[in-house]
Amino acid sequence: MLSRTLLAGIGLLARETVAANFIYNGLAITPQMGWNTWNTFACDVDEELILSTAQTLVDLGFRDAGYHHVVLDDCWSNGRYANGSLRPDFTKFPNGMKHVADAVHALGMGFGMYSDAGAYTCGMYAGSLGYETQDATTFASWGVDYLKYDNCYNEGQSGTPQITQHRYKTMSNALNATGRPILYSMCNWGEDSPWNWAQTMANSWRMSGDITDSFNRPDIRCPCDDATECNLPGFHCSVMNILNKQAMFPSKSQPGAWSDLDMLEIGNGGMNDEEYKLHMTMWAATKSPLIVGTDVRSLSPSAYSIYTNPAILAISQDPAGSSIVRRWRQFTDPDENGQGEISMWAGSLSQGDYILVLLNAANSAMSMNATLADIFTDDGGVKSERAKQSWDVYDLWANRMSNSTASMVLQSNSTMGAMNITASYWNATQMSFADGIKANSSVLMGTMVGTVEALGMVIANVPRHGVVAYRLRPRGAPLSRRRRDEL
Ligand code: GAL
Repeated sequence: MLSRTLLAGIGLLARETVAANFIYNGLAITPQMGWNTWNTFACDVDEELILSTAQTLVDLGFRDAGYHHVVLDDCWSNGRYANGSLRPDFTKFPNGMKHVADAVHALGMGFGMYSDAGAYTCGMYAGSLGYETQDATTFASWGVDYLKYDNCYNEGQSGTPQITQHRYKTMSNALNATGRPILYSMCNWGEDSPWNWAQTMANSWRMSGDITDSFNRPDIRCPCDDATECNLPGFHCSVMNILNKQAMFPSKSQPGAWSDLDMLEIGNGGMNDEEYKLHMTMWAATKSPLIVGTDVRSLSPSAYSIYTNPAILAISQDPAGSSIVRRWRQFTDPDENGQGEISMWAGSLSQGDYILVLLNAANSAMSMNATLADIFTDDGGVKSERAKQSWDVYDLWANRMSNSTASMVLQSNSTMGAMNITASYWNATQMSFADGIKANSSVLMGTMVGTVEALGMVIANVPRHGVVAYRLRPRGAPLSRRRRDEL
C-alpha cells in the first residue's frame, strides 16, 4: 500500500505536470503587445490609417521593441454578402482586408481584427453570434493573426459564467478549427467572471469596462469599484479605477492567458507625465497586454520614451509570467477627485529577481517606504528567508530615453538617426527580453541606486500621482522558487 506521504507526492507531481503543460494555444506566452485603432480613432478607420501606422511602428522602432500586432477595432465592415460572409466597407478598405493583412505581414507584424459575440458590434455593425464558423474562416482566409471579440448586443446571453462562456467558447473553437494560429482576445468587460474560466479558451480577457484618458476621475458611467460584483462594467473607467479592480485577482494571469486592463492611453493628453509613467508601469507589472492606443504618427518625445522604456518592457515580457501583487494600501491626502491613496506592490520575476512599486495616488509628493518583511509577506514576513537576504536595488525609470534622443528618433523617423540610443532602447527582434535579462543587460535592469540590507527597508520619494519602480536582485544566490507567485 502506498504511504500517505507518497500519495501526497504523486498528487503534487500530477498537478504540477498539468500546470506546466497547460497553455491554451501556444500564443501570448508573454502578454501580447501591439497597437489598436479604438482609443484615438474610434470609427474613423481606413486602409490608409492602418498602413501608415504600421509603417510608423516599424520606422520608430515600436515593432522591434515588441509591439507586434496592428489591430483594427470596430467599424470596418458593411453587412454581409448573400452567402452570409462578412463584407468589408470598401469605401474605407478599397482593396479589401487580405490586402491590408498582406501589407502588415510584409512589414513583419501581425494583423488583428475585431468582431462581437452578439448580433451587432458595439458600433452596430454585423456581429458574429451564430456566424462563428463562417466568420472565423473568413478571418483566417484574410490572414488575420489576432481577434478581439466584444460583448455588445449579446441578446441577453449572459448572466452566468456558463452562458457567457458558451458564446466565447464557440468562437474559440471556430478559430482553432481554421488551423491558423489566431491570438484570441476576449472583450467581455469582466462580465461573468472571465478570470475564473477564460484561460482554457482565450489568450486574454478584459476585466473591466472601457478605459478613459483620466488618472482617477470618478464617472457614473463606470459605476463599479469592484469587478467581482459588477453588473454594469460601463466605460469612462480611470486608470486607478481599473488598477484597483485588478488588485483582487493577480494570480489569475498565466503564460498564454492574461487579464487585460484595456488599451494604453499614453500620449492622448488627459494625464501628465507622472500619471502616464504610472499607467505604463502598472500595466506592464500586472502583465496586462500592452496595446498602444494613441496616434504614433504624431507622438511627443515623452510619450515615445514611456512606450519604449526597455526596463519596463522587460518586466512585461519577463518569462516568469507572474503579476505584481498589491501588498498594502492606505488612504491619505485626498485630491480634487475626493480620493487619495498610496500602495505598495511587489512580485517575483525570473532569475530570482523581484519588482517593487511604490505608488502614490495622493495629492502631494510622499516619502514612502517598503520593508522587506512587507515585500515578502507571502513568504512569512520577518521570518522569510528572502527578507533575511540583502538586495541590490535598480531604478526601472533611470534609463528612460532623454527628450533630445526621443526627439531625434521622431524627427528622423528612425531609430538609426539618434545617437546613443542603445543606452535607452532595446531591440527585442535582435535579442529577446528574456535573453537580455539573463545577460544582465544594464538597459533592461535599470540603474543600480543602492542596496537594502537584510530585514531592511526601501525608502523613496514618490511624486504626486506617480510611481517609483525598482528591480530587486538578491546579493548572493537566489532562493529557489518552483512556481509563480500565489500558486
Ligand atoms: C467596446 C470595447 C472597446 C471597443 C468598442 C468598439 O465594447 O470595450 O475596447 O472595442 O467596444 O465599439
